[in-house]
Amino acid sequence: MDFYAKQLNRKRPWTPTCGDPMPIVKGAESLVGKALSLRILELEVAEWLEDSLKSTNLPQSAIDCLRSNITDEERHDQVLGMAAKTYPFATPSDESEAKALHQAWLDHPDHPLTKAFVLENSVFFVILPILRLFGGVGLGIISADISSDESVHAAVHRQAALDMGYTYSASLDRLRRDTVGWLVEGLRIPEAGASGKPQRWLKASDNLLYNGASDLVETKRAIQPAFFEIASNSLPSYS
Ligand SMILES: [Fe+2]
Ligand SMILES: [Fe+2]
Repeated sequence: MDFYAKQLNRKRPWTPTCGDPMPIVKGAESLVGKALSLRILELEVAEWLEDSLKSTNLPQSAIDCLRSNITDEERHDQVLGMAAKTYPFATPSDESEAKALHQAWLDHPDHPLTKAFVLENSVFFVILPILRLFGGVGLGIISADISSDESVHAAVHRQAALDMGYTYSASLDRLRRDTVGWLVEGLRIPEAGASGKPQRWLKASDNLLYNGASDLVETKRAIQPAFFEIASNSLPSYS
């Protein structure tokens, strides 16, 4: 089994659901609202993957994985849409600023697969731990479900871009930092220690992009769901 088939095999099935509203961390309403307003980037990733499949020399295993990832993005958009209705913290100005960022990602000239991997590695893996850490039980479950897919996407799209010879430009790197900067700019939650300040998340985003990893324990938790959350067919086998 090659890299792509192994990654595809790591996925576990889940159904998009969002129950009744649950309490979230006090003071995190604006942060959670902004995080949810960035959900409009999810379907874009699906479009970029479709574009990438139009002309590719990637192996069949990679193509199968990308196709599966496209259907994941539709599910992410669906569940985050439900979450945005249940947790309506985004203000009209959050929504319009998120739209402007969305447009900047759309207009950026880097290869669509590159945009997908930069967004997933270093923006979504800031948003998902934020939802898990500050969003209460309900958004925490949604974050864990999406994270289990995104950890596969982030790895696969980074590798596929590399295999096709694409990398990100300095201006995409700046757009990535501006996007995360906008998300966390008003964050002041002293009870959360370092995680309650913007700098922590900007640094995490840098590390995720430059090193493919983060020192952020919340990120590690978010991309390594507990064993009981993983379908038995995707548990490692040692035979
Ligand atoms: Fe996604
Ligand atoms: Fe994704």
